[in-house]
Amino acid sequence: KPLVFSGVQPTGSLTLGNYLGAIRKFVALQDNHDCMYCVVDLHSLTARLVHDDLADQTRAIAAAFIAAGIDPHRHIVFNQSRVPGHAELAWIFNCVARIGWMNRMTQFKDKAGKDRENASLGLLAYPSLMAADIMLYRATHVPVGDDQKQHLELARDIAIKFNNDFSERIEQAGLSVPVTMGEEKVNAYFPIVEPLIEGPAPRVMSLRDGTKKMSKSDPSDNSRINMTDDAETIAKKIRKAKTDPDGLPTEVDGLKGRAEADNLVGIFAALSDRSKADVLGEFGGRQFSEFKPALSELAVSVLSPIGEEMRRLMADPGHLDAILWNGAEQANGMAEKTLDDVRQIVGFV
Ligand code: TYM
Repeated sequence: KPLVFSGVQPTGSLTLGNYLGAIRKFVALQDNHDCMYCVVDLHSLTARLVHDDLADQTRAIAAAFIAAGIDPHRHIVFNQSRVPGHAELAWIFNCVARIGWMNRMTQFKDKAGKDRENASLGLLAYPSLMAADIMLYRATHVPVGDDQKQHLELARDIAIKFNNDFSERIEQAGLSVPVTMGEEKVNAYFPIVEPLIEGPAPRVMSLRDGTKKMSKSDPSDNSRINMTDDAETIAKKIRKAKTDPDGLPTEVDGLKGRAEADNLVGIFAALSDRSKADVLGEFGGRQFSEFKPALSELAVSVLSPIGEEMRRLMADPGHLDAILWNGAEQANGMAEKTLDDVRQIVGFV
């Protein structure tokens, strides 16, 4: 079975963007894959060093995974800092990757802002740690939202460069295996990851501005739906969501240039596992005043049970900690195998 890996940062409350772009896909993949879902607490230090409630935020992400339907007994749910191999492999990748690659990352440019000299070194190296997260288990499939695409391209570049730089030593150590690269198979050590981004809502946009990503950090709470919002709040936010004055088009092509309409139709499609074309087949020609209540009802029916289950799980932090601990133990065992190989390839005594 192919191995799936993905991570979510424990900062701020989870949004509908996190759910549709990532967590809902995590759940769908678990029947046909072995999966590892990681709360990336090391990453959360890159933008802000001191957090008052990192432990609870970490538990909340684990609770969201489980409440959404991930079975932690069949798959591995854990937090990154409990497996020291993430940091160790990231160090080696820091020496593989080039500063120029990191400087080109749009997320780095956005988050560092104008005062780049004063951004943390961790923020710059962020994608190298992300590559290490995946490669530590030699995972091949990575479900993420569209905003992580550039980081995964960089993870592929790191794997390719490691494989090339160490090709002779990989061969000598007898650690060379067939690796899929595009259409070809080559002999190498690290697999080249496949991002899983497709679906009707790879980039969920703000409810107030269809050109901005829905984000935990947007100052306006009305711009996003949080996974723990109650039914009334969800309905209010959808009612207030920005739209244009026209009705819904009958074809997907008619959503071009109508960012807000496109976003709401995408959300409806993703929440109901349908295509946008299918949703427009039902709602095309109708007004938003009819579509919005249907969307609210759907969003509440999906999110309310998850929010409730999250609250129930959060009431027993010891239980969540035990799940994370157990996951980390399994992850550690897998990580050590890769690290043994990598230490041999690099030539550490
Ligand atoms: P993070 O914590 O910002 O977001 C978690 C996941 O949610 C997706 N996402 C969205 N998808 C669609 N629309 C949106 N508006 C939206 N907002 C967030 C993100 O794409 C992501 O999949 N760097 C990662 C975490 C990470 C990781 C990894 C992911 C660390 N190591 C290894 C995959 C593999 C991040 O900060 O995600």
